[in-house]
Amino acid sequence: MIRIEELVYRYDREAPEVLRGISLTIGEGMHTALIGPNGCGKTTLIKHLNALLLPASGSVLVDGMATTDAGAVREIRRRVGMVFQNPDTQIVGMTVEEDVAFGPGNLGLPPAEIRRRVDDCLAMVGMTGFEKRPPHTLSGGEKRLLSIAGVLAMDPRYIAFDEPTAYLDPAAKERVLAIIERLRRQGMAIIHIAHDMRDIAAVDRVAVMDRGSLVAEGTPAEVFGRAELLGSIGLDIPAGVGHD
Ligand SMILES: Nc1ncnc2c1ncn2[C@@H]1O[C@H](COP(=O)(O)OP(=O)(O)OP(=O)(O)O)[C@@H](O)[C@H]1O
Ligand SMILES: [Mg+2]
Repeated sequence: MIRIEELVYRYDREAPEVLRGISLTIGEGMHTALIGPNGCGKTTLIKHLNALLLPASGSVLVDGMATTDAGAVREIRRRVGMVFQNPDTQIVGMTVEEDVAFGPGNLGLPPAEIRRRVDDCLAMVGMTGFEKRPPHTLSGGEKRLLSIAGVLAMDPRYIAFDEPTAYLDPAAKERVLAIIERLRRQGMAIIHIAHDMRDIAAVDRVAVMDRGSLVAEGTPAEVFGRAELLGSIGLDIPAGVGHD
């Protein structure tokens, strides 16, 4: 599991705290949604899960390994995959297959195993047949699927998705949500930053952030039932979500 304890972070020593003492545990196989108004610190929080950012105080432990332990960072990054909001920041290969092969190549895996992972992960996201395509010729939705395939190719135990349906048309959105649901059924632990509450109506747990703090946590029904709290921090819950 991932244990976040009393996590405090600021981007600059002089700057205000962006995370103000967050404690949260992410169990294996759990689908956790993270919601909160713009700028509350959601992306900053998930960047701590694989040591892209390190706590000013407090700690983040991934399966018992501290993200501040330089010797553990490689293993932590293998276990915790990160699908960023903008797939362009994540694409490194000249072709789709090269891109997916990049992570497993870095792990030093044998070529046959890399090939197997590339084929499996492209199949998993429905992109078989795209192997030789240069990524810049892909649509936004296809780039998102490619970035997911690249993360899956590392065979992670946890994946954090930062607004995975942002900027996608409804069909691409459905495909991405179906992939996330399939991963959850396969036992992957998922941390899912969401803007549209309809995307997370069926998760195991919702954590709500506001101005760097965790302000609520519970099942979707429990959290979406707290209309007053959500309204007070500027989140609106579309009709039909959170009500049976
Ligand atoms: N690289 C950075 N340097 C300085 N400040 C930053 C940096 N990245 C984010 N911030 C600030 O930290 C705060 C939290 O930002 P963060 O991106 O984590 O929020 P968020 O909840 O993901 O927002 P959004 O919903 O808009 O994606 C904001 O005030 C933001 O301006
Ligand atoms: Mg963000």
